[in-house]
Amino acid sequence: MPDLARKILCSVLTAGTALVTLSMAPARADEPSAELLARGEYVATAGDCIACHTRPGGKPFAGGLSMTTPMGNVISTNITPDPDHGIGKYTEQEFEQSVRHGIRRDGSRLYPAMPYVSYSGMTDEDVKALYAWLMHDVKPVAETPPATELNFPANLRITMAVWNLVAGSTTPETGDSATFDKLRRGRYLAHALEHCGTCHTPRNMMLTEKEGSYLAGASLLGWYAPDITPSKTGGIGNWTEDNLVAYLRTGHVNGLSQAAGPMGEVVEHSTSHLTDADLHALAAYILQVPAMDDDVDHTPREQFGQVLNTPDIRTGELTRIDRLDEMDGQHVYDANCAACHGDNGAGTDDHYAPSLFHNGVVGSARPDNLIMTVLHGVDRTAGNEHAFMPGFDQKSDVQRLSNAEIASVVNYVMTTFGSGNHNVTAEQVGTMRSGEATKVP
Ligand code: HEC
Ligand code: HEC
Ligand code: HEC
Repeated sequence: MPDLARKILCSVLTAGTALVTLSMAPARADEPSAELLARGEYVATAGDCIACHTRPGGKPFAGGLSMTTPMGNVISTNITPDPDHGIGKYTEQEFEQSVRHGIRRDGSRLYPAMPYVSYSGMTDEDVKALYAWLMHDVKPVAETPPATELNFPANLRITMAVWNLVAGSTTPETGDSATFDKLRRGRYLAHALEHCGTCHTPRNMMLTEKEGSYLAGASLLGWYAPDITPSKTGGIGNWTEDNLVAYLRTGHVNGLSQAAGPMGEVVEHSTSHLTDADLHALAAYILQVPAMDDDVDHTPREQFGQVLNTPDIRTGELTRIDRLDEMDGQHVYDANCAACHGDNGAGTDDHYAPSLFHNGVVGSARPDNLIMTVLHGVDRTAGNEHAFMPGFDQKSDVQRLSNAEIASVVNYVMTTFGSGNHNVTAEQVGTMRSGEATKVP
């Protein structure tokens, strides 16, 4: 056989053998199984990594979201598997150190805006699956978000080591988290993955979650994450497990509460994707944590108000079109809200626009979430349902309302359908309007 022919034949044969070997061989040792990847994706969803690691309009997991904290703005990093811009060079161990202990690959400390204190409770198996999925199934993005620059002393990452000593961390759960019984699974979801306490638990001076106040309610620059302990007065003690499951799955339970702002995002990106069994586990767990009273809500938020029987008490009254910039609350309501929520506040027949009485936001003694809802509206997709209410801030396509108009409509709505007049002022609305942050640790 001529040399050349032999060479060709040889290479064809070798290639053939190689192909056969490839197709017959089991997955390479470092090739994660489909099962592991599916688990990793679920852990990433339950841990809601995408919420903080994606900026509005940005590529998934490429970072760049700015989070306002009392120390300054912290910008989330790129956690796609890009080796230069993301975490492509992280080994599984290095990844574990950053996710559970807040220590970066280069040894520096992460800011607690990354909820590693919660994630420290994750099982080894779930961290492994999460790593495999991020490395294998997330598209690398070659973008570096702007660096975080905080004020002194927080700009020294080493101070976070001290913070860590105070904040402590949880011992990881052991065993297979998929086989935990209902309450243990619920506890695991609430603490280690969903980090509900990151927003709903108040913080002490060291900015760590206050011990003994789990889920008792906390401010989030503008929004207020209410008391969701089973307290019958300040919390959600009158909700059933099914109510809470429905809220977490859809973000909407007419006659109780809807999810806007940061909670709408939690529902959209995370809880609406949980399995039925996990939602029930989570709800059952939340509904049995120690009840905490609230400082200002002393009557269940959802119990206030009733349908307004005299929708137009102004009959006969002339609208002063020369003074429309000073519309009173009822005028603002009639012009901007009544089309959807009804003159009588009952919402649309199908409850797409919810009733404003028996509504957690309107029934709270804190007007914060009503002001924020009027400013920013609601934009939440869960399953096939898109809940949309326009915002009325300076970016509104519908109607830009002034601070004074928003204050007056908030006072009107809360007096008519909710917990009473809280005398919201235009200045208060102005402060909330300027708050740029929507997510804080
Ligand atoms: C509440 C917001 C938030 C959530 C949720 C969150 N992160 Fe982070 N993460 C951050 C911020 C902010 C940083 C950057 C902190 C810093 O610069 O010190 C960060 C940093 C990281 C880093 C370090 C990367 C590097 O080298 O810079 C990793 C890894 C990471 N996050 C993984 C995850 C994973 C995995 C999840 C989901 C299980 C997750 N994060 C969920 C806010 C978040
Ligand atoms: C990113 C911050 C954040 C996280 C994380 C978060 N929440 Fe919320 N939650 C909020 C805010 C803000 C509100 C108020 C929303 C509104 O007014 O529309 C809220 C509202 C709620 C309500 C309605 C309470 C009422 O009385 O109307 C429930 C129930 C709730 N959250 C449960 C949970 C559970 C369970 C978790 C964990 C799975 C969780 N939240 C995680 C911020 C958060
Ligand atoms: C185009 C219809 C529309 C208009 C106009 C409208 N809303 Fe809404 N509103 C909705 C929808 C839809 C939701 C979200 C329901 C959901 O979350 O599933 C909503 C939600 C709300 C909530 C509950 C938010 C929460 O966080 O739980 C309040 C309170 C509210 N609207 C008040 C108002 C007020 C006050 C105005 C006028 C300034 C107004 N709405 C104008 C349709 C509308």
